[in-house]
Amino acid sequence: MKKICIIGGGNLGSSIAIGLAQNSASYSITVTGLKLEHVEHLKSYGINISTNNAEVVSGSEVVILCVQPGQVDRALKEIRDVLTPNHILSSTATGVSTEEMAKVLDKPGIPIVRVMPNTATAIRQSMTCISGRGASEEQLREIQDIFGAVGKTIVIEEELMQAATVLGASGIAFFLRYIRAATQGGIQMGFHPHEAKLIAVQTAIGAATLVSEFNDHPEMEIDKVTTPRGCTIEGLNEMEHQGLSSAVIKGIMASYHKINNIR
Ligand SMILES: NC(=O)c1ccc[n+]([C@@H]2O[C@H](COP(=O)([O-])OP(=O)(O)OC[C@H]3O[C@@H](n4cnc5c(N)ncnc54)[C@H](OP(=O)(O)O)[C@@H]3O)[C@@H](O)[C@H]2O)c1
Repeated sequence: MKKICIIGGGNLGSSIAIGLAQNSASYSITVTGLKLEHVEHLKSYGINISTNNAEVVSGSEVVILCVQPGQVDRALKEIRDVLTPNHILSSTATGVSTEEMAKVLDKPGIPIVRVMPNTATAIRQSMTCISGRGASEEQLREIQDIFGAVGKTIVIEEELMQAATVLGASGIAFFLRYIRAATQGGIQMGFHPHEAKLIAVQTAIGAATLVSEFNDHPEMEIDKVTTPRGCTIEGLNEMEHQGLSSAVIKGIMASYHKINNIR
């Protein structure tokens, strides 16, 4: 059984822990928080909780750092003395490079891996981008196995981590905003809110699954539902006249610009 500790049981740390806890035969999970009451809710999933980072790390094989970027230095200093080259240190912190973390640790030989999952880890549907520094292929595979248990994974160059954050982590919010808008359209056409949401959500799942399962271009699936002179192409073209694709690309690039200038 792999011993994993998650430092920081906030939104993401809790989602990862809950997702992994569904595979309780493979993982023993401990989540730490600044205050025990902040992570208390995780106990009902069979997750251990603590406020003592150093103690928990010394009893773990894999560390997943899930604190805010500005809290990374303090957390790393708390665990620096107990970290050994046998640990794999992974971090979800946005914009904090492996080089910066290695500098704070000031301890050679610690494999450091950056992971960028999203909150769908809780339902094991995350997209997790991974990049490593000083980590062997086997250690990277180990991290892929862990995050593979809560969704899909891809190993990328570290320079693409910011882009991965926008597309994969912020992407959750972007898709949800579409679902909200579609729900509002449904209500205006006469559905009750819960019916409109059900239809919008299941249709989004269906659309994403079609592209994922058939591994084809979205436009190929769009062609299948756009009858010439029909209502779908009428609606699609109106959305494009209003700037749908352009708004999405510009939004993604605005996020990307922001993330590159946050610190
Ligand atoms: N949310 C996402 O979708 C997402 C996706 C990808 C990456 N990320 C990145 O992942 C990191 C965590 O994000 P989040 O949304 O989970 O943030 P969050 O909700 O603010 O959670 C951070 C948690 O860390 C705890 N914490 C801070 N310092 C600690 C320490 N020294 N020891 C133990 N616990 C400590 C905080 O405890 P208290 O509650 O007691 O303050 C808080 O619960 C961030 O760097 C973020 O950029 C987030």
